[in-house]
Amino acid sequence: EKGGYDYFMLKEIAEQPKAVADTLLGRIDAAGSLLLDEVRIPASVLREVDKVVIVACGTAFHAGMIAKYAIEHWTRIPCETELASEFRYRDPILDPRTLVIAISQSGETMDTLMALRHAREQGAKVLAICNTNGSTIPRESDAVLYTHAGPEVAVASTKAFLTQLVACYLVALYLGQVRGTKWGDEIHSVIRELSEIGTQVEQVLETMEPVRELARSLADKNTVLFLGRHVGYPVALEGALKLKELAYMHAEGFAAGELKHGPIALIEDDVPVVIVVPSPRGRSVLHDKIVSNIQEIRARGARTIVIAERGDEVVIPYADHLIEIPATPTLLQPLVATVPLQVFACELATARGNEVDQPRNLAKSVTVE
Ligand code: M6R
Repeated sequence: EKGGYDYFMLKEIAEQPKAVADTLLGRIDAAGSLLLDEVRIPASVLREVDKVVIVACGTAFHAGMIAKYAIEHWTRIPCETELASEFRYRDPILDPRTLVIAISQSGETMDTLMALRHAREQGAKVLAICNTNGSTIPRESDAVLYTHAGPEVAVASTKAFLTQLVACYLVALYLGQVRGTKWGDEIHSVIRELSEIGTQVEQVLETMEPVRELARSLADKNTVLFLGRHVGYPVALEGALKLKELAYMHAEGFAAGELKHGPIALIEDDVPVVIVVPSPRGRSVLHDKIVSNIQEIRARGARTIVIAERGDEVVIPYADHLIEIPATPTLLQPLVATVPLQVFACELATARGNEVDQPRNLAKSVTVE
């Protein structure tokens, strides 16, 4: 059942190139346009949308945070991402021109279900991004985009996350396509790169041995910190969540720009800090800023574990450990940057003797509020 792997989690990590390809299957035509007729919300309704609200929990919430960057960039529609458990208690402003996107692997998460029910009561349209056919969340939504990742058994979400991201990018690009934004050319080139992303995820998986070795060497640490900017920030949060769930370690993700507003006080000798570095192309201002963040924490004795694009030579002098990932468009980088963090957490859990597929106190799907 585990296909020769020791844990379902390892199998599911390895399945990611195929899973992302399956999410894309049949959704891009030969001319490079998106075919999302299955999202039965008519284009006329999508053209009228004036706000997008994403609700989700845990890892799916991190996918939603990344989706916000993509949706706002490619469509210029304001988008907010909110924890489903917080959503309805603040009396959110929703109307028929609001598109609510509920992201859930299981389709049974009670917090997310209650948020979408609330949204529909207020007249908003709800699109579910879900991995489980016929589950409650898609049944109660106006439309659904299935991720087709195949069953995810390990409690810690891996392939569901990558495929949620792909589905979110498809929705963002589709909204851009339907509404004809000024990013037409960029949208086309991103669709092309997205359709080949499975190969890049595969490349990352082939180079994970040093990451496993590094994880084993950190098995007796108490704390690991994660920093990122832009879409690297939710990736940092996801890396920290994986480590909490699997290794039962204190792990925290921060927006790197927040460092000097408090978290830098946590930096002491030899504390491992994982930094997700944005591509040096395109977003060069962000890149410069994160390089100075790395310098700041290294000067205070942190052990820097740097995830950066292959060929990014600027970061090399400041990296105690360098994890290279393939070049991608900025917004797609989470698809390759998250994979080493999954492997890192899984290996640390194993090194600490923890149960990988069934971490303590956790359930695969949380069906109570
Ligand atoms: O099934 P869902 O995607 O709605 O689940 C949401 C969270 O409970 C889930 O992502 C959880 O955070 C995972 N255990 C993370 O690895």
